[in-house]
Amino acid sequence: MSVASSQFSRCVRVCQNRSCRKQGAKSVLDAFLQFPVSGVTVTGSSCLGQCGNGPMVLVLPDMVWYSGVHASEVPLLVEQHLVSNRKVAHILYKRFHSQNENN
Ligand code: FES
Repeated sequence: MSVASSQFSRCVRVCQNRSCRKQGAKSVLDAFLQFPVSGVTVTGSSCLGQCGNGPMVLVLPDMVWYSGVHASEVPLLVEQHLVSNRKVAHILYKRFHSQNENN
């Protein structure tokens, strides 16, 4: 898949299942919906299989996972990842990403 096509067909999935909901996933989803980005669809999702590390956010097709996302971090995630194509290192899910990953 080319860079151009991945930029224009992204989907952000914000887990809304029980564990992530308890950790604030509703406010994270609401925050994403306040910052729409052209070509990016944001949806709530069922359990992403990483319960207890939430709120979990998965960016597709990039396959980039964020964990413990707080609503206040959403503007940064939108600006840095969805607009500028740079991962937000400090909230990358360490189970699937190395700490030094930033692009
Ligand atoms: S409840 Fe969110 S990953 Fe399972």
